[in-house]
Amino acid sequence: IVLKEDTSLPAPVKIKLNDKSIELGDDTKKGTRVKVYGRIHRLRVQKHATFITLKDGYGQLQCVLPASDLTKTYDALMFAQETSLVLFGEMKKLPAGASAPDNRELQVDYYKVIGTAPSDLDAITNRVSREQDPWDAQMLDNRHLVLRGDNASTVMKLREFVELAFIDTYRELQFRKVSPPAMVQTQVEGGSTLFKYDYYGEESYLTQSSQLYLETCLSSLGSVYCIEKSFRAEKSLTRRHLSEYTHVEAELDFIEFDDLLSHIEEMISKVVDKVLADPVASEYIKTLNPDFKKPTLPFLRMKYEDAIEWLNKQDPPILNEEGNTHVFGDDIAEAAERRMTDIINRPILLTHFPVEIKAFYMKKDPKDLRVTESVDVLMPGVGEIVGGSMRMEDYDELIAAYKKNGIGHEPYYWYTDVRKYGTSPHGGYGLGLERFLAWMANQHTVRTTSLYPRFMGRCKP
Ligand code: 4AD
Repeated sequence: IVLKEDTSLPAPVKIKLNDKSIELGDDTKKGTRVKVYGRIHRLRVQKHATFITLKDGYGQLQCVLPASDLTKTYDALMFAQETSLVLFGEMKKLPAGASAPDNRELQVDYYKVIGTAPSDLDAITNRVSREQDPWDAQMLDNRHLVLRGDNASTVMKLREFVELAFIDTYRELQFRKVSPPAMVQTQVEGGSTLFKYDYYGEESYLTQSSQLYLETCLSSLGSVYCIEKSFRAEKSLTRRHLSEYTHVEAELDFIEFDDLLSHIEEMISKVVDKVLADPVASEYIKTLNPDFKKPTLPFLRMKYEDAIEWLNKQDPPILNEEGNTHVFGDDIAEAAERRMTDIINRPILLTHFPVEIKAFYMKKDPKDLRVTESVDVLMPGVGEIVGGSMRMEDYDELIAAYKKNGIGHEPYYWYTDVRKYGTSPHGGYGLGLERFLAWMANQHTVRTTSLYPRFMGRCKP
C-alpha cells in the first residue's frame, strides 16, 4: 500500500507540539489541519486504531491513525519507539473520558516516515532499561539514549530554567557576567585534583575554579559572576563528585563576612522563587520532586566548631572517616556532613572552618585566628552545594600563605597584584550547578543532573 495525501484537504500548518493556539475540532466544527514532525514516544496498536504519542522536544501529542490503509502500510508495520516521521491531520478535542497530553489529539489523514528505528533486539527499550540506575555501566554508555526518556529529559529542561534563573538573579542584583579562561597555570583548590596538560611545552591545568580571575575584575567591573566549567581530577566515585562540572561563581567587593552570608541566602532564595514562579518549570519540579518546599529564610547558621560538638553529641556519635569521634581540625567528610544535614533537615550555612583544612587564599577571622571567614552551604539530601569565603586582603600575608602551602608565587603575580593595587575587603563563593539541581529535583546523584557526566573512569559518550 502506498499512501497519497488527499490534496482536496486544506493545506496544513506546520506546528511545534507545544503550540496551544491551534483550533480544535469537535462535533460541530472542523479543527485546523496541521503538519507535525517528531518521533514516536509511545505506540499502542489496537484493532480499531493505532495510537502514537509523538514527541518533538517541545511537547507531546497523541496521534490517531484509524484502522484503514493508514495502518496497513509497510511503514506502519515497522513503527517503533523513536521512529521519526511527519504526520498530517486535523486537530481535535479529546473525546470525553479519554486522556492524552493537553486534552487533544491529531486525527491523522496522511504521514511519511523520515527515519526508522529498530524494533528488534536493538530496540531502544532493550538498550535503556526502565530502572535507569545511574551507576550501571550500560546505562552510562547509553546516556545518549537515556536522555530521550521522560525523566532524564525533564531534568535537563529544568536545568536550563535553573541556569537562566541564576542569570536573571545576578542581573537583578547588578552583578556583571564575565567569562574567565578554562586553560590556566595556577591552582585554586589544591594540587591533588589538578588536571595537567601540555600547553605548547608549558605545564598547564584545566581550571578548578574561576575565583582568582573574578577577583581581578572587581576593580573595573564591580561585583561579577560567571557560569563556567570547572575541572577536578577527583579520585573517588561518590554521589556528588564529577571531574567536569558547571560552576556558578560570584565575587563581591567591599563587603564583610556577614554580607556574604546574607547575599548567598538571598541569591538561592531568589533563584528558587524564579523557578517556582514559572508555570512550566514548576511543573517539572512537581513531576521530579513533588515534596519540594522553598526553604525558609534565614538559613540556620552554624560554626564549624559547633558542628563538631553536634556530631559528637549524637547517640551514637557520628564518627570521622577513621572511625573516631571528631576533634577540632578534622575535615567533616561527606558521609558525616550529609547525615548531619539530613537530621537537621534544613539548609545550613556552616561557617568558620579551621585555617589548616581550607584553601590558601581564605581570610582569617580577626576574632579567632584558628579559623577562616569561610562558609559551606549544606542542603538536605545532597550536603555541600556552595563553598565560599572572604579573601586575604594583605599583600604580605598572601605571600606568606603561598609559601606555607608550598605554592610558588611567580605564576600568581596577577592575583597578588589585586592586593598591590588598591586592596579591598572582598569575598565570594562557588555553587555546583549539578548539586543544586540534585537538591531541587531530588536526584540521588549529580550523574543525572549532568548532560554527559564525567567522573573517574568515564569520558564517554
Ligand atoms: O568548595 P569549592 O572547591 O570552592 C571553590 O572552588 C571556590 N574557589 C569557589 C569560589 O569561592 N569562587 O567548590 C565550590 C562548589 C562546591 O560547593 C560544590 O557544589 C561544587 O563547587 N563542586 C563540585 N561539584 C561536582 N563535582 C565536584 N568534583 C565538585 N567540586 C566542587
